[in-house]
Amino acid sequence: MIRAVLCGYGAALPARILTNKEMEGLVDTSDEWIVQRTGIRQRHIAGDGETSASLGEQAARAALARAGMTPADIDVIIVATSTPDNTFPATAVNIQNRLGMHHGAAFDMQAVCSGFIYAMATADAYIRGGLARRVLVIGTETFSRILDWTDRTTCVLFGDGAGAVVLEGREQAGTSADRGILTAQLRSDGAHRDKLFVDGGPSTTGTVGQLRMEGREVFKHAVGMITDVIEAAFAATGTTADDIDWLVPHQANRRIIDASAKKLGIPPEKVVVTVDLHGNTSAASIPLALDAAASDGRIKDGDLVLLEAMGGGFTWGSVLLRW
Ligand code: UT7
Repeated sequence: MIRAVLCGYGAALPARILTNKEMEGLVDTSDEWIVQRTGIRQRHIAGDGETSASLGEQAARAALARAGMTPADIDVIIVATSTPDNTFPATAVNIQNRLGMHHGAAFDMQAVCSGFIYAMATADAYIRGGLARRVLVIGTETFSRILDWTDRTTCVLFGDGAGAVVLEGREQAGTSADRGILTAQLRSDGAHRDKLFVDGGPSTTGTVGQLRMEGREVFKHAVGMITDVIEAAFAATGTTADDIDWLVPHQANRRIIDASAKKLGIPPEKVVVTVDLHGNTSAASIPLALDAAASDGRIKDGDLVLLEAMGGGFTWGSVLLRW
């Protein structure tokens, strides 16, 4: 059978780093509170001229270079973002143009922090269904532009950045020893809308709006939802926590990551953590973490890698793949 095999990865971060110490000058907070409650020590913030499309383009170019490909080799671009450059056209089409690519198709996916998981699942379906052979999947965000910088309960949590991967359809045996995406599990439940949302939009206020979150409420649901989609991935593939080489979770909060890994029986040394350096970059957090762990040699060919995310909507999901 055809599997979507990951053959390139890349990332981009704005040059400007905002430390917790600097946050103390913006709102009534402390480095100690932020580190204890979230594990975050710093985040990157987009500067003038840096946008979701420009960061996404940079990450895409790095992923293509690693894959030994050019934009001419790509059939479809899928961009996961909740912070598009414009309401329309899609950021994916913007990036397609920046890459000098004028063939194929490009579109955005909006599933907030689970956006990269949704985009990977969609790319997998396109490849297995024969609609595309090579898909560029990008997660890119500039959440700094939708934050209320006077609200200490949210503004300390998020950061900007982008990550990308190239997926290519390759013939595999059809077992859990295959390379590529083995399963993707997606869930959503709009009843949780008010716990994490943006209070504006083109069809309501006609403005962009700002992020609002009842953090404690989100926290209460996070671990259960994450473990649900991971157990579903194990059941779908006949694998167990013992088979996992790397858990690469969405990076929202160190405590959520630790509690989820513990509940699943995945030891801390197999968990990739970047939340300390990047904060929560929403749809960009997983590809940024993948880039970090693959570039430094932790993730190797043949490793079984488990991705998971949960966020606004609520949406949540997992992807199990062999590198
Ligand atoms: O990626 C999308 C999904 N999002 C998430 O996964 C976020 C999930 N939620 C969380 O990560 C956590 O709930 C937070 C990090 C947002 C908050 O941590 P918490 O342990 O749930 O704290 P809390 O909301 O219960 O607040 C505890 C106290 C409150 O003061 P009182 O009421 O106890 O006096 C807050 O006002 O901490 C206060 N507080 C702060 N203090 C200093 C809230 N934000 C801050 C702050 N600095 N930045």
